[in-house]
Amino acid sequence: MRVIVCENYEELSAQAAKIMASQIILKPNSILGLATGSTPVGMYNRLAEMNQNGDLDFSKVITFNLDEYYPIEKTNCQSYRYFMNENLFSKINIDINNTHVPNGEAADPMVECARYERAIADCGGIDLQLLGIGQNGHIGFNEPGETLSSVTHITDLTENTIKANSRFFDKIEDVPKKALTMGIGSILKAKKILLLVSGQNKHDALMDLFTPEIKTNNPATLLKVHPDVILICDRAAYGDGPAK
Ligand code: F6R
Repeated sequence: MRVIVCENYEELSAQAAKIMASQIILKPNSILGLATGSTPVGMYNRLAEMNQNGDLDFSKVITFNLDEYYPIEKTNCQSYRYFMNENLFSKINIDINNTHVPNGEAADPMVECARYERAIADCGGIDLQLLGIGQNGHIGFNEPGETLSSVTHITDLTENTIKANSRFFDKIEDVPKKALTMGIGSILKAKKILLLVSGQNKHDALMDLFTPEIKTNNPATLLKVHPDVILICDRAAYGDGPAK
């Protein structure tokens, strides 16, 4: 794992945008795995700026998002489809038909999960997967537990995640209790992974990445088995780093 510690969120966003942009410049038809949440917003803004300045072309890029609440309508402003359209897709020259988010409106979630996993494989797999991390170590919505799922699946959100995500809703009761998410195996199949970690509340989850242990109660520790991970964190998340 290559580790880049940035002084602040602005620097983290700039570094991450450079890495994403390099991927797209080197392979214009890249398959990108994308994430929602607060952390990637600064990076998405920079990528949109590069696109608007004519420095970055998304016309051949294909994207697959990690997850989506279930059930939820695409037009609901809390859906991850809506988030992606607002924060990135509407600001760049991507073909919207090339953007994929698990379908929160699917009648049968299991069928939708199998379809999503197959769609990623049919495109040839993800070239660069962007990830954030939950305070509890989740990646996508692979929540801590005794077992983890390898493929795209439907999952119950933990109390911790519901509480963390309630900041985007009027009240905590409005946060959906389930989600469709790529599995740990789906994520680890990506050729490269870019993990962004910002804020002091992520410190404990982050420090587990600096030990030799893999534990299912911090799903992000599974990233240690991947040969090509870049971790970008800010000073607030890194603090004084791992205990000596
Ligand atoms: C979002 C996702 C989640 C977030 C994580 C961090 O698609 O899969 O794992 O990356 O919850 O969220 P923020 O960035 O809001 O702290």
